Amino acid sequence: MSVNDWREEVVNRLREVKYPGFSRDIVSFGLVQDMELTGTDLKLKLKITTPDPAVPEKIGQEIRDSLKGYAPVKSVAIETEVAPPQATAATGPQGIPGVKKIIAVASGKGGVGKSTVAANLAVQLAKGGLKVGLCDCDLYGPSQALMLGCREGVRVEEGSERLVPAEVHGVKLMSMGMLLGDDSPAALRGPMVTRFTQQFLRQVAWGELDLLVLDLPPGTGDIQLTIVQTVALDGSVIVTTPQEVALVDARKAMAMFRKVNVAILGIVENMSFFVAPGSGERHEIFGSGGGRKEAVRQRVPLLGEIPLDPEARRCGDEGRPVVLECPGSTSGKVFVDFANYVSKILFLNISS
Ligand SMILES: Nc1ncnc2c1ncn2[C@@H]1O[C@H](COP(=O)(O)OP(=O)(O)O)[C@@H](O)[C@H]1O
Ligand SMILES: [Mg+2]
Repeated sequence: MSVNDWREEVVNRLREVKYPGFSRDIVSFGLVQDMELTGTDLKLKLKITTPDPAVPEKIGQEIRDSLKGYAPVKSVAIETEVAPPQATAATGPQGIPGVKKIIAVASGKGGVGKSTVAANLAVQLAKGGLKVGLCDCDLYGPSQALMLGCREGVRVEEGSERLVPAEVHGVKLMSMGMLLGDDSPAALRGPMVTRFTQQFLRQVAWGELDLLVLDLPPGTGDIQLTIVQTVALDGSVIVTTPQEVALVDARKAMAMFRKVNVAILGIVENMSFFVAPGSGERHEIFGSGGGRKEAVRQRVPLLGEIPLDPEARRCGDEGRPVVLECPGSTSGKVFVDFANYVSKILFLNISS
């Protein structure tokens, strides 16, 4: 067997091994430094940047599992070198000058109402007197400009070349997608996305803000990872709907935040129930209690249970979030309470 045959097969199998808590594999993460096959004994050298002993243990187990059934390898010895995380020295998560608190609104799954939650949170807190910024980080499906009814394009600050956020409903708004033409996202992949995201996050002239809300794209891939590694977050808000398919992905998002030591401020369950107009009957369309149970399981607060409300959808489509347009509606009231809860956790330091 030629050298490259076994190498190729081993690498292919290692590509199936995900870094714990991430959707990315250990090969593309650059963990695999060296490999050597003597007879049927495989020696692997891994470079790991976390001091958490559970990580190499879990990766080792998965590597062994991935190589099971591959006859040329009978035994696997793994040598791990624990390197200090490169990122924290020079390019690790950093705050944004002038911005007091930064949080991410995230979900594993798309379509659960993350942008709706982020928009209502930002607008409600701005209404309450805080200086709030909202950054739509969804490169491929930005929606905040539409949800907030913002028609302003991107302006570049003279001299500094920094990007100036638009102002709408008292919130400073910036969207990563604003910089890209209609068909460019498809061309922006891999390392380019990472570079673009890092540059973008450092190039916005936010000015003085009490709170910056990052509306993350769904998932736990490269973009999300880049964001949480670039900006020092004060916490994350996890949005889910009650059903298991959404909860599975929400758990992945929480694992990602835990991995990078970002506090989970709590879970907000959206589309929790629907109150029929007229009869007032409550329908639990996507099941009930999923978010509450998960919050207990994860030992984080349940920040709210937002009903499915046609008003919320209409307001979103019309560019006036429900907390502005109809704060007394079934969803409006819950959004207001939810925003106040988040603000208490962030600014009064009540434990989350
Ligand atoms: N509680 C709700 N009641 C009714 N419609 C909602 C609610 N939350 C979100 N929506 C609607 O669902 C769609 C998806 O929401 P969005 O916030 O864009 O999700 P995500 O950002 O997670 O992809 C939007 O049309 C939005 O207006
Ligand atoms: Mg969205």
